[in-house]
Amino acid sequence: MHTIIEPFRIKSVEPIYFNTKEEREVILKKAFFNLFHIHSKDVLIDLLTDSGTSAMSSNQWSGIMQGDESYAGSPSFFRFEKTIQDITGMQLVIPTHQGRAAEKILFSVMGGKEKYFVSNTLFDTTRANIEFTGAEGIDLLCAEGKLPSVPAPFKGNMDTEAFKNFISEKGAANIPLCIITVTNNSGGGQPVSMQNIRAVKKICVENDIPLFIDACRFAENSWFIKQREAGYADKSVKEIAHELFSYADGCTMSAKKDAFANIGGFLAMHDEELALQCRNLLIITEGFPTYGGLAGRDLEAISIGLEEVLDENYLQYRIRSIEYLTNKLIDAGVPVMQPAGGHAVYIDAKEMLPHIPPVQYPAQALAGALYTQGGIRSVEIGSLMFGKYDEKNKLIPAQMELVRLAIPRRVYTQSHIDYVAEVIIEVYKTRQQIKGLQIIEEAPTLRHFTAKLKTID
Ligand code: F0G
Repeated sequence: MHTIIEPFRIKSVEPIYFNTKEEREVILKKAFFNLFHIHSKDVLIDLLTDSGTSAMSSNQWSGIMQGDESYAGSPSFFRFEKTIQDITGMQLVIPTHQGRAAEKILFSVMGGKEKYFVSNTLFDTTRANIEFTGAEGIDLLCAEGKLPSVPAPFKGNMDTEAFKNFISEKGAANIPLCIITVTNNSGGGQPVSMQNIRAVKKICVENDIPLFIDACRFAENSWFIKQREAGYADKSVKEIAHELFSYADGCTMSAKKDAFANIGGFLAMHDEELALQCRNLLIITEGFPTYGGLAGRDLEAISIGLEEVLDENYLQYRIRSIEYLTNKLIDAGVPVMQPAGGHAVYIDAKEMLPHIPPVQYPAQALAGALYTQGGIRSVEIGSLMFGKYDEKNKLIPAQMELVRLAIPRRVYTQSHIDYVAEVIIEVYKTRQQIKGLQIIEEAPTLRHFTAKLKTID
């Protein structure tokens, strides 16, 4: 078979600004070892996120010129609505300025004290929006999903037995919603199988609990189903996505991922009463229901992006490019989440840096080292992001200490990725020199965005 090539040509380019290791050491220190504080011009390869960082196509850019900016009833909205209806089968479509705005609205309506929102794994903003209402977010990930080095085809699956037990323990009436995140971002970008979604749906129906999909990466997940699940090889990704959504009562989506948009999101659902309540909140917080928090041109870019992402040549290249980097690291002995996920490579910092205990944030320390070594910006998904404190103010570490290298869509070429692999392998070879970190300042929620840290000597 030939090399799987980028299924696009490049028409417009952006410069990368180079700096030296010595300069980056100073920059990292000034940023208090938090990569969110670094200016993007000081980054060579930016793998902080795949969110809003995609390269838009020439079609999307021309769609932007067609955007109709009418306050009410814009044709750009009706195109957006129809595209989402076609893919999801859900008739009620509510645009928002990004995924977390959709979450904020949904959980403001459904959340509240003594309620539990159950999931395979909630993304950090989803969890934060749930907890902001006084409710609790519960992650019930399958056992294999918690073992970074053990490959399995669907490590994003929800543990259905644990779900049943949780319902018996807390009572279905206290569980307003089950949310399946596809692919499971915080658990390694791992996919969820159709069989698992069906099984979760069955439990939901038996207990009268609605099911929502966090659909940010629905196309990548659908591609994995096509590749790995029996009975789906001959179905189109669009058909698979359609089936996936058919089991859900609604979805939230950040269009900054699989819709290749720089901004945007939506809520979609079947329930008229719920949609009415969501729209009422939408008008206060986001905007009129035919634009949400978006400009007409954004609605166009999202509609076109949602059609483009279902192109199977694109998805083959996309998933292969993540696997390519993952395999290079595996070959060099670097401990990574296996198998490769859909949008990112995850390095297991617990395994790579056993000399740094979780209380010294090994994954954050590793992310810093990748930056100084090669100007690569990644993100910690570990105890800085998910750690909590007990009553004695002692850190309860996260389940895993991961460094995520999220690959923006259609942005970097194979030689960029080769460079990334070289830098990671260099850091791996000198890993004993990496030092642990300590927090000197932090916010009460989503602290990883703003926390300030220093090295422990
Ligand atoms: N759900 C998932 C699974 C996500 O990955 C994200 C964002 C959101 C919801 C929220 O969407 O950013 O549009 O408000 N993830 C980004 C990331 C930020 O880097 O993984 P948003």
